[in-house]
Amino acid sequence: MDVLFCTSEAFPLIKTGGLGDVCGSLPGALHELGNDVRLVLPAYPQVIERAAKLETIASLVLSGASAPVKMLRGQFPGSEATLYLVDSAEHFRRPGNPYLQQDGSDWPDNAQRFALFARAIVALALGQADTGWIPQLVHCNDWQTGLAAPLLALEDDRPATLFTIHNLAYQGLFSRTQFQALDLPPQWWSMNGLEFHDQMSFIKGGLIFSDWTTTVSPTYAREIQTAEFGCGLEGLLKQHSARLTGILNGVDYQVWNPGRDRLIPHPYTARTLRLKQENKMALQDAFGLPVKPEVPLFGHVGRLVEQKGLDLIMELVPQLVQRRLQLVFLGTGQPQLEQDLRQAHGRHPTKFGVRIAYDEQLAHLIEAGSDAFLMPSRFEPCGLNQLYSLRYGTPPIVRRTGGLADSVVDADGPNLYARKATGFVFDDAEPAQLLRAIDRALNLYAQQRVWKDLVATAMHQDFSWTRSANAYLELYQRVLEAPRTGRDGLHRNPSPDVAEILA
Ligand code: ADP
Ligand code: GLC
Repeated sequence: MDVLFCTSEAFPLIKTGGLGDVCGSLPGALHELGNDVRLVLPAYPQVIERAAKLETIASLVLSGASAPVKMLRGQFPGSEATLYLVDSAEHFRRPGNPYLQQDGSDWPDNAQRFALFARAIVALALGQADTGWIPQLVHCNDWQTGLAAPLLALEDDRPATLFTIHNLAYQGLFSRTQFQALDLPPQWWSMNGLEFHDQMSFIKGGLIFSDWTTTVSPTYAREIQTAEFGCGLEGLLKQHSARLTGILNGVDYQVWNPGRDRLIPHPYTARTLRLKQENKMALQDAFGLPVKPEVPLFGHVGRLVEQKGLDLIMELVPQLVQRRLQLVFLGTGQPQLEQDLRQAHGRHPTKFGVRIAYDEQLAHLIEAGSDAFLMPSRFEPCGLNQLYSLRYGTPPIVRRTGGLADSVVDADGPNLYARKATGFVFDDAEPAQLLRAIDRALNLYAQQRVWKDLVATAMHQDFSWTRSANAYLELYQRVLEAPRTGRDGLHRNPSPDVAEILA
């Protein structure tokens, strides 16, 4: 199958979170299954630096760009997959985070930047940028690619489109003035178009106009159809539920494998777990904590935002410091949460290790050196860190939501007895419930024989891409066969022969 895979992030070219991990590994997995899956990204400076064998294949005149936009073609690092980069200096040649300025606020022209990205995707999809190659399906990811499906829906002869929501909370919302500046069809400013509470919503464009929508876990696919998780789009998602599928993300075990991890000092497997202790001591040392391998150590890595439930942990500081444990945190994000963490470290330097930074290597050491991983997310479309934790023998403590609910088996009595348990699961985003889960972990940790069984079961879980990549392929096929969404965003359903069968 020929697929154009569109994303603003793909590890190792560029990554701000799980979107980068997934888009850096899913295309490769699909490629290995014999498909011609090609990636397209904006040509951010660090992406140009890391991409291989780049050449300019086209110069495109696109609305929204004051100069012709170059389409570069090269190879995705470490794979055979073709990579396209949309090179418009005025839009993408900016250092640092792809969405934020130095001071942490959004680039003021993000709407123009990602509208231009969508127009370049359309050129590729229609065979106008790399002549001779036309994909059968265009797979878009998250709001940054949200305008591609609407623009493609305007074409009579076009590839099928699929839109994956990695996180519904980031919608790409912009003002009406910005909508007007983008030279888009004026009729899109409506309830059945991009308008959302008097703003332009990129993600709504993807939802309405693509032929199919997926999200990154079956549970999140159900949750987003409810008011609690739907961010105001639950009605629309419910209406589209026949074309909404949840497929759990996979893990790239080339990158996240404790046995072959070059970013940790002591690679280990389920058979050489004593080496995990060595990593633990290296981790305690790296955070300036007392190097005591017998003290239970809890780790956390993540964006410091409300989603991740860090505030629940912060509320428990007085109780946590009463217990014999240590905690390490790595993250960047909301200034208040950064400050809370720094304060906890300042007050309890022998218990709280804190690093406010983005540090890929330290993230691996935390997975390897911690005894348990804290991930009390309020919502979690899929979550990757709990999957990494399982493989690193670091049982995750998670809230029963989204992909966390779909990947972690609670260490209750029956599950432990059946050797199915892999972590600790609690129901509600309440500090007391999280504390109970932490206490359950501490109790089990004190029974080292049971703990070792839990660790072994966790390490043997298989979340490699194979299963998920096959699920995507099956879905691609289904989407190719399904009727296309019309230019008005309506699904002509069912097709005549299907109608006949139904009759
Ligand atoms: P999300 O995409 O919501 O941020 P995921 O669990 O899906 O959450 O993926 C997060 C990814 O980003 C993981 O690979 C994690 O290790 C990484 N990550 C997040 N924050 C940091 C950080 N401060 N330093 C290094 N890696 C980080
Ligand atoms: C998002 C979600 C996260 C998911 C990731 C990759 O950033 O917050 O849960 O794992 O995308 O799909």
